[in-house]
Amino acid sequence: MSDASYGSIAASNGREADRGGRGGETLLEIRDLKKYFPLTQGILFKRTIGQVRAVDGVNLSMRRGETVGLVGESGCGKSTVSKLLVALEKPTSGSIVYKGRDVTTMNSRQLKEYRREVQIIFQDPYASLNPRMTVGDIVAEGWAVHADVAPRKGRLQRTQELLDRVGLNPDYVNRYPHQFSGGQRQRIGIARALALRPEIIVCDEPVSALDVSVQAQVVNLLEDLQDEFGLSYLFIAHDLSVVRHISDRVAVMYLGSIVEEGTDQQVYASPSHPYTQALLSSVPLHEPALRGQKDRILLQGDVPSPADPPSGCRFRTRCWKAQDICATEAPALVDRGQGHPSACHFAEAREVVPVDAE
Ligand SMILES: Nc1ncnc2c1ncn2[C@@H]1O[C@H](COP(=O)(O)OP(=O)(O)OP(=O)(O)O)[C@@H](O)[C@H]1O
Ligand code: SF4
Ligand SMILES: [Mg+2]
Repeated sequence: MSDASYGSIAASNGREADRGGRGGETLLEIRDLKKYFPLTQGILFKRTIGQVRAVDGVNLSMRRGETVGLVGESGCGKSTVSKLLVALEKPTSGSIVYKGRDVTTMNSRQLKEYRREVQIIFQDPYASLNPRMTVGDIVAEGWAVHADVAPRKGRLQRTQELLDRVGLNPDYVNRYPHQFSGGQRQRIGIARALALRPEIIVCDEPVSALDVSVQAQVVNLLEDLQDEFGLSYLFIAHDLSVVRHISDRVAVMYLGSIVEEGTDQQVYASPSHPYTQALLSSVPLHEPALRGQKDRILLQGDVPSPADPPSGCRFRTRCWKAQDICATEAPALVDRGQGHPSACHFAEAREVVPVDAE
């Protein structure tokens, strides 16, 4: 992104950048993305006895200025998707097309620029900041590799502007991470990501480790920054209620693949995959009068191992609607008349929570 469109932090305060609308051009397209990790046995002589199919055929797109929510239980592959997206891991197969160019075949110069444009915020604000570096050095770290983003002379001022923009006292540049609360540390992580003027920020459960009251503040900050800088987010969470607040579109993930996808309204008001329905039924409702109107669906059993996923539909071992075909044919992620794509042979929209419930 050019300087002119991004502006300096100070210059762009209070100004809404041209974000191209939430239905802007396609920025990123993930096609049939797979990541298999080898499953090894033995200590001295390791041998591969299988593979963990952490991500197994994910398709997802992101338009400029929009937020895509990615939701699913622990271990379903969300963080692996985020690491593949920011090129911290190499896919086993599939493609990640960014601005028309496949990331998996980029040369080192293109990859360096891609890594600047696609930043990540991690789940654990305690583990993701180096305890021996000052906050100022943490925020400025990326400029060592991408020197052209911030001229050497004005770096301290720019770091302070960034701290101020994320709601931290600019005078704290010389403090260390342990001197901050969890919410403040997450703000430092956001400032570090912003410092490189990204187009996309992958937010891997950025508020899961925070108190509920602090969660809302961090989500609000992310929304403000999105408006100001025209950012696009992949926002990962295991809680559907957190994702609803911020997402334009939501993708629900189960055991390595996406089982349902749609606008937030489609997925919340008319979920059609049994897994989405079960996830939604477990979201706590804050409005006491609405609680009685919620369908309660209790999921049976545990998530199967991604090293040995069930045949056919991966959700079948926990699904109350499963039929014979579910064991033999993997359902495609398509619209079967319910208005948005769902990977279920018997997809059927069902209101699980009252539509006006948050
Ligand atoms: N480097 C690795 N080597 C082997 N297996 C891995 C590796 N990284 C992840 N996995 C496995 O891949 C699967 C998906 O893991 P991942 O961390 O992507 O899930 P997640 O959805 O982010 O879970 P959580 O909500 O707990 O963060 C898990 O079974 C995990 O054990
Ligand atoms: S395809 Fe079958 S097992 Fe899978 S979610 Fe639909 S009904 Fe359940
Ligand atoms: Mg994770």
